[in-house]
Amino acid sequence: MKIGIIGTGAIGGTLARGLANLGHQVSIANSRGPETLKDLAAEIGAKAVSVREAARAGDVVILSIPQKAVPQLPRDLFAGVPSSVVVIDTGNYYPQLRDGRIEALEAGTLDSKWVAEQLGRPVVKAFNNIVAKSLREKGAPPGSPGRVALSIAGDPPEARAVALRLLDELGFDPVDAGRLDESWRQQPGTPAYCRDLDAASLKRALAEADPSRLTEYRREREEHVAKLLANAGG
Ligand SMILES: NC(=O)c1ccc[n+]([C@@H]2O[C@H](COP(=O)([O-])OP(=O)(O)OC[C@H]3O[C@@H](n4cnc5c(N)ncnc54)[C@H](OP(=O)(O)O)[C@@H]3O)[C@@H](O)[C@H]2O)c1
Repeated sequence: MKIGIIGTGAIGGTLARGLANLGHQVSIANSRGPETLKDLAAEIGAKAVSVREAARAGDVVILSIPQKAVPQLPRDLFAGVPSSVVVIDTGNYYPQLRDGRIEALEAGTLDSKWVAEQLGRPVVKAFNNIVAKSLREKGAPPGSPGRVALSIAGDPPEARAVALRLLDELGFDPVDAGRLDESWRQQPGTPAYCRDLDAASLKRALAEADPSRLTEYRREREEHVAKLLANAGG
């Protein structure tokens, strides 16, 4: 498939490498322009492009940037891009640690619903609930004992099917968590967030999530990450 990736940091860079390795035609973009990505592109067998070109790369666009950067994307980023193109959002909202306060999210809009509104396109939330290290290291062939599972939630169903296939190719058991309205079940701090569970356990964790605790889940997660960073001296 032809895949554009906007954001080539810990998650976007790992996905670019993995997908290029699998033989996909990968185009990568960041905020600073393609010339800053030449070396990475050459190393992993991808093409360095502008953000606009990445959105027009072909079949799938993966958005992997901090939540606060989403409104900085060109307003017409997807103008003229066919509606069959699947948009995958890996993002999480971390107000204290990184993103600052985004009023719509504080008021209860789901993280990726807000992204979809900003882009003016439906999105599939995927790869948001695994840390980059696990994404890099824990992929395994189908049928491997304890294979880590990843869930996705998004619209439309055909887009979910594409995302599920990519998850499986990258080495993770794909779990369909339903429409974008269900994506809160894998937001930061929920039982399904970044725990490297197998498929049965991940399905249980998604079912256990409590919508009344979303703010609390996120706050606890931020506190946990802040402690890890402090202990690491970062
Ligand atoms: N790190 C993890 O383990 C992890 C796990 C799951 C989900 N996530 C989520 O995935 C998203 C990406 O996280 P990350 O850790 O990969 O971030 P990161 O390492 O900080 O990388 C961010 C990337 O986004 C690019 N970017 C920022 N603003 C941009 C803009 N306006 N236009 C185009 N590109 C832009 C940056 O490019 P420049 O360097 O050129 O600015 C960089 O390539 C976040 O929402 C994060 O919460 C992260």
